[in-house]
Amino acid sequence: MYEDAVELAKRRGFFWPSFSIYGGFAGFYDYGPLGVLLKDNIVKIWKEEYLDDGAIFLDSPNVTPEPVFQASGHIARFSDLASECDQCKNKFKLETVLGFNKISSIPKSLKDAEELVEKYNLKCPVCGSVIKKVYDFNLMYRVSGDYYLRPETAQGIFVNFRLLNNYNRGKIPMVVGQQGKGFRNEISPRQSLIRLREFNQCEVEVFLDPENLKFAELYDYKKIKIRPNTGEDLYISVKEAYGKKIISNQAFAYFVLKTQVILEKIGISNDKLRFRQHEPDERAHYAADSWDAEGLIDDEWFEIVGIANRTDFDLRNHENSSGNQMRIKINEKDVIPYVIEPSYGIDRILLTLISQSMEKKDGKNLLRLPYYMAPYHIAVFPLMKKDNLKEKAEELYSKLKKVDSYILYDETGTIGKRYARQDEVGTPFCITIDYQTLEDNTVTLRNRDTAEQERIKIKDVLDSNFIKNLIENKSKL
Ligand code: GAP
Repeated sequence: MYEDAVELAKRRGFFWPSFSIYGGFAGFYDYGPLGVLLKDNIVKIWKEEYLDDGAIFLDSPNVTPEPVFQASGHIARFSDLASECDQCKNKFKLETVLGFNKISSIPKSLKDAEELVEKYNLKCPVCGSVIKKVYDFNLMYRVSGDYYLRPETAQGIFVNFRLLNNYNRGKIPMVVGQQGKGFRNEISPRQSLIRLREFNQCEVEVFLDPENLKFAELYDYKKIKIRPNTGEDLYISVKEAYGKKIISNQAFAYFVLKTQVILEKIGISNDKLRFRQHEPDERAHYAADSWDAEGLIDDEWFEIVGIANRTDFDLRNHENSSGNQMRIKINEKDVIPYVIEPSYGIDRILLTLISQSMEKKDGKNLLRLPYYMAPYHIAVFPLMKKDNLKEKAEELYSKLKKVDSYILYDETGTIGKRYARQDEVGTPFCITIDYQTLEDNTVTLRNRDTAEQERIKIKDVLDSNFIKNLIENKSKL
């Protein structure tokens, strides 16, 4: 479905490669009219779910001065091993070259990588020449002088920790979210929204007492695939995973569970979602433990959310580097809080959602998004443009817009084509004004998933709760 999803996204206006009139530049994508609305709906669910946990939010700059990333370790350690072909001048992630040459060992350092390159005559995946050059490639974009584009939104929260905690009246646990752009100079951007150079994150930093790594009560929820780094896949609830000490602390388990709930609410299938623990040598430089939420597209798993135990790594380093105290009073002691971080990649979630929601029905595309996630809730059509049907449909459209903003009007093409267009972009309901409307002020209401139609009075459609009930009471869940 991946290929179909990308084709649909471009043709119908969800997303497409940026700057295409200049030939396109790898790693950059635009959101089109429908994509903007769908992305907003994903962010809305994330925000509302965390508001339920008492979260506060921040919006800090993309451009960040060097001392922040000196302290956070990104200047020294936020890099990928890369290689370059002397012949064709193409640059690759070293793991791409190793994969192409069917070498399974993963180098842990530049020295390991140099030894591998020396040992095997690694062939360039593009021109076949022998690759000799391997190096550490820092993934941050340097904008000018001593400024960088942030590779994660998180540091804005860490450097503001004291101000945020004052705002929060010194309370811990404290949950802080930030929605915004991240920038990484990826060596090999790939698979549309999967590996971008500019991407959208919704990050959450949860500050906790290191001696009490607990958050709200864990509850029993649906079983899910869990893959710890010590063994086989398990199919258990997150609560059970914590009970069996597969997930090491209660707060971490709570935010794994929270992520399962959020992703499911967005429309990611529970049976196409798993939680995979990182191997120790796979973790980011700041993490003591990491689990990825991975979504299945076709038969490949992709990381869509990263959940990390960042301990006091960031706050401690900012305290040391800036000379400003990051410790607060917890039970009469001066303490640097620990941080659990669920970090949501909105682009990957959106791509996974579209890919997993696409179905073929009678040879036509159907995008079975949960109703409330759809870019538009209702499309209004006149059966024909003549005999006062168009005017009547326009009148209903403008009245409906006063009740709900997410209403479309369409009068082009046959009625069958109009239904098909809306099915393909996930609009859950279509209303058609026909000849009977002129007689009795009723319309047809058609459901996207069943294609069933019912007659309904215009006055009922205009009731202030009608659309809300339609959208909220039913979904693909
Ligand atoms: N602050 C932690 C952090 O940034 P991460 O695992 O590197 O952790 C979090 O990123 C999420 O951001 C990932 O799970 C992924 O969904 C998304 N993401 C990371 N790099 C990306 C890229 N180059 N393109 C698109 N999404 C990306």
